[in-house]
Amino acid sequence: MKGTFFITGIDTNIGKSYATGWLAREWNSKGIKTITQKMIQTGNVGHSEDIDLHREIMGIPFTPEDKERITFPIVYSYPASPHLAAEIDDRIIPIEKITESTRILQSRYDVVLLEGAGGLMVPITRRYLTVDYIADQKLPVILVTSGRLGSINHTLLSIEALVNRNIPLYGMVYNTFPKTDERIDKDTEEYLKTYLNEHFPQAHFWTLPEIALHR
Ligand SMILES: Nc1ncnc2c1ncn2[C@@H]1O[C@H](COP(=O)(O)OP(=O)(O)OP(=O)(O)O)[C@@H](O)[C@H]1O
Ligand SMILES: [Mg+2]
Repeated sequence: MKGTFFITGIDTNIGKSYATGWLAREWNSKGIKTITQKMIQTGNVGHSEDIDLHREIMGIPFTPEDKERITFPIVYSYPASPHLAAEIDDRIIPIEKITESTRILQSRYDVVLLEGAGGLMVPITRRYLTVDYIADQKLPVILVTSGRLGSINHTLLSIEALVNRNIPLYGMVYNTFPKTDERIDKDTEEYLKTYLNEHFPQAHFWTLPEIALHR
């Protein structure tokens, strides 16, 4: 197994980082050499809290690529959408730096899991969306969703955006955290699994457990 997968979610705070760290841990344990990258980190200075979290979940120390900041090539201080965070820090987003970092990681690992910021329609610049980057780079997508009320709607809308741009859906991660209404939880998982089976029979479906970190 080789390649770069783009990890997106139906919304910010849906569990992309947890899903990314968990998939990386699972695949590494199966002998698939997997590294993670954060496309654009906002709300930090000099590190990426998402990469920190990936490593914690993977149970590994920072990699040489983390120390060289290849895994988080772009960091803005203001916790906002990338387009706004870049404007506030007065630094234009060097999109080619993201691509170059992924290329380096791909040359050293079997799999790169590239975590986006927020969801598919998040602007990178005022004229360029996250989904445009995914389409330009021809990356297969792993979509993170959950049983939160409203998520069936957000999930199907996200899938429509992928289909619109001919972006392959590689798989879906159903995050069981946070536990909400048990009936809605169970039904949402069932609904999405069936939907995927019918419309994307090749796509994977993973159920992400609640992960307790030892802090
Ligand atoms: N499977 C899980 N087990 C335990 N806690 C979780 C899980 N999924 C999400 N969380 C909690 O929800 C928060 C948000 O999850 P996460 O950071 O993965 O979201 P995200 O989609 O990556 O957000 P962002 O858009 O900021 O990158 C986490 O800080 C954690 O507290
Ligand atoms: Mg994240």
